[in-house]
Formats: sequence, C-alpha cells, structure tokens
Amino acid sequence: MCQVFIPKRNITLRAFPGQTIFDVLRKHDVPIGSSCGGKAVCVKCKVQVLDGMDHLDTPGREEAQVLAAYSFADNERLACQARINGDITISTLYW
Ligand code: FES
Repeated sequence: MCQVFIPKRNITLRAFPGQTIFDVLRKHDVPIGSSCGGKAVCVKCKVQVLDGMDHLDTPGREEAQVLAAYSFADNERLACQARINGDITISTLYW
C-alpha cells in the first residue's frame, strides 16, 4: 500500500500502487476539481506534489501535452493521470 498525505487537511489516505491520485481522492470523499471526468481535458484536477514526485509514473502523451500547454510547474500533475507507486504528499490551491 501507498500513502497520500494532505498536510492542509492533516489526513493520510491509503492507496493501491497504480491508482491515480484522482481515484484515491474520490474514494475517500476528498473534493477534487473536474468537469471532464478524468479525461485530461479540463485541467481542474491540478495538484502540487510537495513530496514523492519520484513515486509517480511518468506523464503519458496526453498529460505531457497539457503540462506543456498550461506551463505547469515541475511539481504539478493532473490528479486524473498521475499514478501512484509510493508515498506522496500533495496539495491544491483550493484545499
Ligand atoms: S479531471 Fe479533467 S483534467 Fe483531470
């Protein structure tokens, strides 16, 4: 199991390796922005990875295009695309 720590809410969520951040948040009823249902289109699910960036998979082609088009910072990912392979710490602008 992996852990997703959210400092602003002081909660730690358990996740299976290979799950997306988006799926983990929704499973635990943590609000995450989305109007595309996790299709890498709306960009509302952007999260900041405060720790454990190397515990996420490499962005796929669709996510890489979004990251470049919207000038994401090096520690930002789409929650609906980023798959967890170890412990991470995340935040958003609205938590
Ligand atoms: S939910 Fe729309 S881009 Fe991730």
